[in-house]
Amino acid sequence: MSIHYHDSTRLLTLRTASSSYQLQIDELGFLRHLYYGRDTGTADLRYLHRFYDLGFSGNHYEHRMERAPSPDTIPQEYASSGAGDYRVPAVVAVGPSGHRGTDWRYVSHEIRPGKYTLAGLPTSFDNGGECETLTLTLRDDASGLTLLLHYGVFAALDIITRAAELRNDGDTPVTLEKAASVCLDLPFGEWDLMHFHGRHCFERQPERLPLPHGVVSVGSERGMSSHQHNPFVILCGRETTEDAGDCYGLMLVYSGSFRCDAERSQTGSVRAVLGVSPLDFSWTLQPGETFTAPEALLAFAEGFTQLSHRFHRFLRRNICRGKFALSRRPVLVNSWEAAYFDLDADRLVSLAKEAKDVGAELFVLDDGWFRGRTDDNAGLGDWFENREKLPRGLGDLVERITALGVQFGIWIEPEMVNENSDLYRAHPDWALAVPGRAPIMARNQLVLDMSRADVRDYLFNVFSALLREHDISYVKWDMNRSLSDVYSHALPAARQGEVLHRYVLGVYDLLERLTSAFPDVLFEGCAGGGGRFDAGILCYCPQIWLSDDTDPIERLKIQRGTSFGYPMSAMGAHVSASPNHQTGRTTPMETRAVVAMAGAFGYELDLTKLPQAEKDAIRAQIARFRADEDTTLCGLYYRLTDERNTWFTAWQTVSEDQKRSIVSLVVQNVEPYKSAPHLRLKGLDPDAVYEIEEEHIAASGAALMHAGYTFPKMLGDYPAAQLHLKKKEGESA
Ligand code: DGJ
Repeated sequence: MSIHYHDSTRLLTLRTASSSYQLQIDELGFLRHLYYGRDTGTADLRYLHRFYDLGFSGNHYEHRMERAPSPDTIPQEYASSGAGDYRVPAVVAVGPSGHRGTDWRYVSHEIRPGKYTLAGLPTSFDNGGECETLTLTLRDDASGLTLLLHYGVFAALDIITRAAELRNDGDTPVTLEKAASVCLDLPFGEWDLMHFHGRHCFERQPERLPLPHGVVSVGSERGMSSHQHNPFVILCGRETTEDAGDCYGLMLVYSGSFRCDAERSQTGSVRAVLGVSPLDFSWTLQPGETFTAPEALLAFAEGFTQLSHRFHRFLRRNICRGKFALSRRPVLVNSWEAAYFDLDADRLVSLAKEAKDVGAELFVLDDGWFRGRTDDNAGLGDWFENREKLPRGLGDLVERITALGVQFGIWIEPEMVNENSDLYRAHPDWALAVPGRAPIMARNQLVLDMSRADVRDYLFNVFSALLREHDISYVKWDMNRSLSDVYSHALPAARQGEVLHRYVLGVYDLLERLTSAFPDVLFEGCAGGGGRFDAGILCYCPQIWLSDDTDPIERLKIQRGTSFGYPMSAMGAHVSASPNHQTGRTTPMETRAVVAMAGAFGYELDLTKLPQAEKDAIRAQIARFRADEDTTLCGLYYRLTDERNTWFTAWQTVSEDQKRSIVSLVVQNVEPYKSAPHLRLKGLDPDAVYEIEEEHIAASGAALMHAGYTFPKMLGDYPAAQLHLKKKEGESA
């Protein structure tokens, strides 16, 4: 039992292996948050909260002369505007009389085995007996709204999921102006906010801010989770490090516009609210209708490393679905940086031959293969072979390539359309655009209105025909612009505030239909690189192209930042040409491989132009990746250096059974007469003896973790090194 209800105190305690989460239904039926943190069993924690009359704070009507507690200061589970709590609300509702705000009171609760699901939205799932669900039902009489708060407790995995549903049980429409997924109050302590900002080609850079009084807000208004911010944040103590200190991770299972507000209130308490962005959002609920807010994942941990381990394991096991979630993925060769739009069948077959020769298993035909696609100005929407580039058709190319013994993969960008396409000419109203205003163009393309069922049906039919007619094993699903001019021709004026969210629901619907219809096809997510790198997409695509910046030195930062929340198996990572196409930097082939091997591995350069020695090196790299991948992609991941280290970046993975470990290091700035890089390793069995294969030496886990290991001196441009550690069976330190 991981959810406990105590009848006389009306306390609900959710317990995972190392955390407890407690809430209380008070005498007014008001839901109070009491605690989330290190496990305290089922102890009654009401004593933590003492309330004083703060002088300028209101109190509940029923309390009259008793001026404390006040809704202004009580820690809450799902705070509303308009009812005495002036901190950031989770929900803003406009009731039938035009009034704003809700006052939630307890109606009932239910505890049941298994995991709740959410209509139309991807969620985490129970692999069998792992999860218990608590659903609390609350009501606001003035609006007629019913609130369902769901909690999924994955005890052994140390994850608690949350979701909210709002149902109009009244007889007049109610409009939601905000409906977040999670509200987490931390009543005591000094907290920092760590969030992950970036831009195209530089995604998910950690930034840690001490929370000031007031609200710190991060998010995306782009219709996609975005390159600029990520729907994953960490609240951590001032002293928290990789290895120690309290921290909480909050991650949204959502791919659209989102907002995270972190507020430090007048009393010093902190509230984090995470959910769909309220900007340009409104949702009208007719009587009987329900709005479902996306799921959020919560973890408490001691140190960032432990937090990452919890999210990595959970995302791989309980978010990624289908046969590729936990299995080995094909090593691929992608045509993009090898050929861009300059495709012809013979050239592609030569590239695929080289791919086969070096030991890759999958050849991916990227952008440029379809009708009218001579460059990135035209063709999106016309998902039929380009007969000028492929005179004997796509089928012929697929057959020639699969006949080599290589699988065939293809690039698509379903959500987009170029004005210069037959699809747009036939259905201009299928694109998002505001009547009477010329739309913003980005990469000269427009966005299809994914909220429309007819658009989705059309896309489903086109892509299922493509996948049925050809032997295609992999799809790269790209999305290359932010949304603007968000107006749907299919919805009335009063419902235009729903389009941004309905767009995301539409994307999920299409992904759901295609991935279910083609369970043997591996879908990789992409959005101009890592512009939609989130747990929502991971529900359908177990790997996502990490970034359009393939320079390994830049990737060090992007991979490191991403690793705080997301597992390495989710990060599409390729070796590309040197000098690099984005930065012009020259790096050794070995360095490029060491960096890319930390993700879902592949190559994206013209193999036909490489000297034999480099091709031989690639063959050896692929074999090395294959030998190591269970440890590198599925093992426990340790960041060994932080961003202040401008000399080198290092990371380590350790198999769950601690028998194998791989340490990787890349020198970014070589300085003469400096000592060689030295590292203290992590996660090893202190009592075991490990052989370092590259050095033919052995040392105990304790020695390697406490005294550390000094690498040989590394000179030259961006050198890299890898150590393979193997536990010596039968020997102990
Ligand atoms: C953006 C992707 O991130 C690239 O890898 C490539 O597929 C291009 N789009 C193609 O247009």
